Amino acid sequence: MLAGGSGTRLRPITHTSAKQLVPVANKPVLFYGLEAIAAAGIGDIGIVVGDTHAEIEAAVGDGSALGLRVTYLRQRAPLGLAHAVLVARDYLGDDDFVMYLGDNFILGGIQDIVGRFTRDRPAAQIMLTRVGDPRQFGVAELDAAGRVIGLEEKPVAPKSDLALVGVYLFTPVVHEAVAELKPSWRGELEITDALQWLIERGHGVESTVISGYWKDTGNVTDMLEVNRLVLESLDGRLDGRVDDGSELIGRVVVEAGGVVERSRIVGPAIIGAGARVADSYIGPFTSIAADCVISGSEIEYSIVLPRASISGVSRIEASLIGHDVEVTPAPNTPRAHRLVLGDHSKVQISS
Ligand code: TTP
Repeated sequence: MLAGGSGTRLRPITHTSAKQLVPVANKPVLFYGLEAIAAAGIGDIGIVVGDTHAEIEAAVGDGSALGLRVTYLRQRAPLGLAHAVLVARDYLGDDDFVMYLGDNFILGGIQDIVGRFTRDRPAAQIMLTRVGDPRQFGVAELDAAGRVIGLEEKPVAPKSDLALVGVYLFTPVVHEAVAELKPSWRGELEITDALQWLIERGHGVESTVISGYWKDTGNVTDMLEVNRLVLESLDGRLDGRVDDGSELIGRVVVEAGGVVERSRIVGPAIIGAGARVADSYIGPFTSIAADCVISGSEIEYSIVLPRASISGVSRIEASLIGHDVEVTPAPNTPRAHRLVLGDHSKVQISS
């Protein structure tokens, strides 16, 4: 499981925390992957970690809560997906393995592909999905029989619309490929180059085109979209307290210790443990994490991370709000925005 990386596309959130721990419906995106691995019957998992190792270790622990035995593998710098395989070389030994990108979200799990790989044992098995604009992905070229004949990372002129999904299965022969790789133009050891190495030497690289939902949650737009999708399948649950002056419409989860007062919540939405929502409107596809305070505000289609406070602000939409952030109205005169923004923050102001 790859949980290092630099996460530049999710700055400034990733200046202070791991992108794999951004919550989707109040559960870190990484946990969906860990659960998929456990559900596929895999018990031993090496998590490749970088600068954010302490936070990942605090969240996942020894993995026993998920039925996993976790070993942490420290990558000194994010030098590429194939570099992560190099870091895990001793841990993996001569075992076949799954490589799962910790910020990827796949609906439907990986049981089927693991089953197929175990049966056929090609050198490598990749998952592909059709995308609208392949230029921003790793792209595969297949022959008539569906065998992979070539791979390219973010091609200018893609040879197909089949993008690599962030789950790969390998036999130990991949270590020979990785050992021979040289850094690409972007200074990384590329997993696509390792796959290309296998193909060129006649090792079988099989592919499965998945029809189910997949997203790389590396940027805010995709993160919000995955949050929407997961909330869609949520069942309503009321473990916190909702007063008589509030109205809950559709599927709403209020976690234990969450409080909703004089507010209107239109689901699907989730209010985290210990969060307080007062005199506010929470719209569909919104996840409010633990210990947030939302008062006199309107917010919709957004993810709010733990302990953030939003008061007297309307309306916030399509936003990702970090830990301990405070959003308040500016004084009426002069009419001006007052901002204290961390490096690489992105703000869109409607005025
Ligand atoms: P990416 O999203 O491709 O890379 P990144 O994390 O550096 O992000 P950005 O492009 O926004 O700068 O990485 C996919 C996953 O693999 C992600 O969970 C991070 C992880 N990863 C590592 O663990 N080690 C690495 O060397 C790299 C490149 C990624």
